[in-house]
Amino acid sequence: MRVTTLARTVWDQLTAATHQRTPFTLAWVATGSAPRAMILRAVDAPELFLATDRRSAKCAELAADPRIGVTVLDDDAGVQVRLRGVGDLVDDPVLRRRAWDSFGPGTRALFSAPLAPGTPIDEATDLTPDTDDATLFDRFAWLRIRVDEIDHLDLGVPGHRRHLMRRDDGWAARRVVP
Ligand SMILES: Cc1cc2nc3c(=O)[nH]c(=O)nc-3n(C[C@H](O)[C@H](O)[C@H](O)COP(=O)(O)O)c2cc1C
Repeated sequence: MRVTTLARTVWDQLTAATHQRTPFTLAWVATGSAPRAMILRAVDAPELFLATDRRSAKCAELAADPRIGVTVLDDDAGVQVRLRGVGDLVDDPVLRRRAWDSFGPGTRALFSAPLAPGTPIDEATDLTPDTDDATLFDRFAWLRIRVDEIDHLDLGVPGHRRHLMRRDDGWAARRVVP
């Protein structure tokens, strides 16, 4: 894949955000409903990977409409990157297992709730966390996003700069009005 310098920078920054905490580590991910914060877990251009609970609303929304948007922001640098593409849940058990094995106990524990995210509860609800690793693994969804377009806005340079890059165009950067 031919990649322009700007696109290379974006993919390098996204990849770095999965290895250490950077401004791009916390992404805003939009499916059918309001965007929600999610941790960017892995990058393999042109794909992004995030971990979520397969019982969560976003998974049902994705099944109904695979279009997905991801926004990351470096507030100090004045750089916003919006990525648009399509998402699906990885089926391949080997890929799911490999991702799961890379998670620490804190991340795995995110899947310990016995009820689906968003389920109404009251004082009588039994919220005893499940600890069985196989149960937690079943709930884990490895969300894959194939990025089709990148919209890069840089307010950190005089005059501001905005570029659009498309995967099917070799990520050639086209400058547009900010
Ligand atoms: C700092 C932060 C990081 C989060 N990271 C994730 C994440 O990596 N995966 C995830 O599914 N939810 C994450 N969440 C929770 C989501 O924002 C959201 O509340 C949850 O996934 C339910 O969303 P849904 O009902 O739209 O599916 C995070 C929330 C915060 C505040």
